[in-house]
Amino acid sequence: MIIPHEIIEEIKFRNDIETVIGSFVNLKRSGANAKGLCPFHSEKTPSFHVYLANQSFYCFGCGASGDVITFTMKMENLDYMSAVRLLASRSGVSLPEGTERVSSKEVGRQRILDMNKAAAKFFHNCLLDEELGKPGREYIVKNRGLSQSVIKHFGIGYAPKDFGALHKHLRSLGFTDEEMITGFLCARSQKNNSVYDVYRERVMFPIIDVTGNVIAFGGRRIDGIKENKYINTNDTPAFKKSKNLFALNFAKNNANDFMILCEGYMDVIALHASGFENAVATLGTAITPEQARMFARYTKKVIISYDNDEPGQKAADKAFKLLQEVGIDVRILKSDGEGVKDPDEYIKKYGKEKFTALLNNSKSKFEFEQERILSGYNLTNMDDKVKALKELCQAISNYPSEVERELYARKIATQFEIPVESVNRDVNSIIKRRNSAQKKKETAEIYRKTSMIGDRINRESASNVNGNKIEEAILGMMMLFPQHLEICVKQLSANDFVTSLSKRIFESICAVYKECNKFDIGYIQNDFSVDEISRISKMIIERQQLSLNDDKTLQDLISSLKDVANKKEDSTSLDSILRAINNKKPK
Ligand code: GTP
Ligand code: MN
Repeated sequence: MIIPHEIIEEIKFRNDIETVIGSFVNLKRSGANAKGLCPFHSEKTPSFHVYLANQSFYCFGCGASGDVITFTMKMENLDYMSAVRLLASRSGVSLPEGTERVSSKEVGRQRILDMNKAAAKFFHNCLLDEELGKPGREYIVKNRGLSQSVIKHFGIGYAPKDFGALHKHLRSLGFTDEEMITGFLCARSQKNNSVYDVYRERVMFPIIDVTGNVIAFGGRRIDGIKENKYINTNDTPAFKKSKNLFALNFAKNNANDFMILCEGYMDVIALHASGFENAVATLGTAITPEQARMFARYTKKVIISYDNDEPGQKAADKAFKLLQEVGIDVRILKSDGEGVKDPDEYIKKYGKEKFTALLNNSKSKFEFEQERILSGYNLTNMDDKVKALKELCQAISNYPSEVERELYARKIATQFEIPVESVNRDVNSIIKRRNSAQKKKETAEIYRKTSMIGDRINRESASNVNGNKIEEAILGMMMLFPQHLEICVKQLSANDFVTSLSKRIFESICAVYKECNKFDIGYIQNDFSVDEISRISKMIIERQQLSLNDDKTLQDLISSLKDVANKKEDSTSLDSILRAINNKKPK
């Protein structure tokens, strides 16, 4: 039974590699990635790397590598299908019929979704109920100024005071205590073992996913007490807070130009009510890498609109980095105003035109960095001025586009009243230094690879070390970059490759490309052994760490490969050396 690509993608998306590996390995973040001690071989210093951007892992010590499925296969000693099944059930993905084996004991995802829908209806009806809903309406309509249509649009509700109101209702619909507890709607009392409602006397915000399921709730207290202001659904078989966003069900259809990221439910609701229907919020936690990737699925630009206070701005800084890592154009907006602490209050006080102006004036990455750097120095002090300039040049040097660098250099030069040439000179020398360090690293890496003689996974590589290096480079580039994939499929055939493993990989990639016009390692997992998948991921990862991945490099590699293939036998063959080594081995 073959599982469709989209389902494999969904499974991989929901099973964040850092979380999955993190439950076996103590991972430490370093930059955009994480590392730890390899679970597949013994070591004292960590050489096991997890790459978050492309959700893969690679051990520089033993060469183990792959994605979350490969990791699960190796770690739990499972075959491909069983690993997929395990990850699917853990993350609530349902597999097509014939692939699923559900144990009857577990509370299923669909059951919880059905129950949530019934609960959302119940809460909503309670809010509309003349008597029961009075306190809720008093708060949400009078105090917070939400209109009937907004209440309806978001399905806002009210959880009444009674400890057992929802419990009784769900019971009458045939839901069990077990299901209500697993779904986080009810809890069991420690004292007398009775089951009671988690949400009482709260205004209820249902959280709805992009397919229209009610997956969770946020409940706000209405008595003005700060403590436990919100209760949010904990993770359930139908919900992971780190992988969902509030109001994404609406915002995804309005995300063409940009999306707005807020902190709170009320911010999002106020923005939507004023026509900014591209606003979303995380679910009471800081933004996660998964959520950043979700944004990247729907939009190219995100404007962060967090609270004005220090925690809010710190959180904005973090969100900024995460979103930037996934290639999003990020801006920051501060809703500054007297007595105003968040976008909800801003828009209520100043109106939507003023908020539109804020959106238009939101700061770019560089402006944001510039402000951050400058705020750390006292610019009337000469020493500080020099340090600030240095840091600014460092920041400028990180932009790959020369035009952009020039623009920022000019800005800084004007601000500091110095010639733009000297800013440029400093920036360029930083870039030069960095490039030469990078080159050194690459050379060392290539040296390390070529000195690796015995290759267990691809035995044929020893008979044509050079050719194998070239073909692996090409395969790596194909798998990494869609534009290279297209070129290679056109210009190469399996016969151009020197080892049979590479031939098979190429054929497999081509088959996937013909079928769906793109590539993901998940698509070909079925065709290869775990070790072979490791090797394939290694090709991708090693390529990713090199800076030379342009069209020209690819063309050079292609023509070298054709040359090698014509000559057949490589002059630098290590075959004889290997044979000699093997001959010495005792039988
Ligand atoms: P109000 O305007 O006060 O209704 O809230 P808000 O929407 O402005 O939210 P705020 O900025 O205060 O908090 C942001 C988010 O953090 C909320 O939407 C909640 O998801 C979450 N949050 C806030 N307070 C609590 C709390 O006491 N407990 C939990 N678990 N989450 C909270
Ligand atoms: Mn607020």
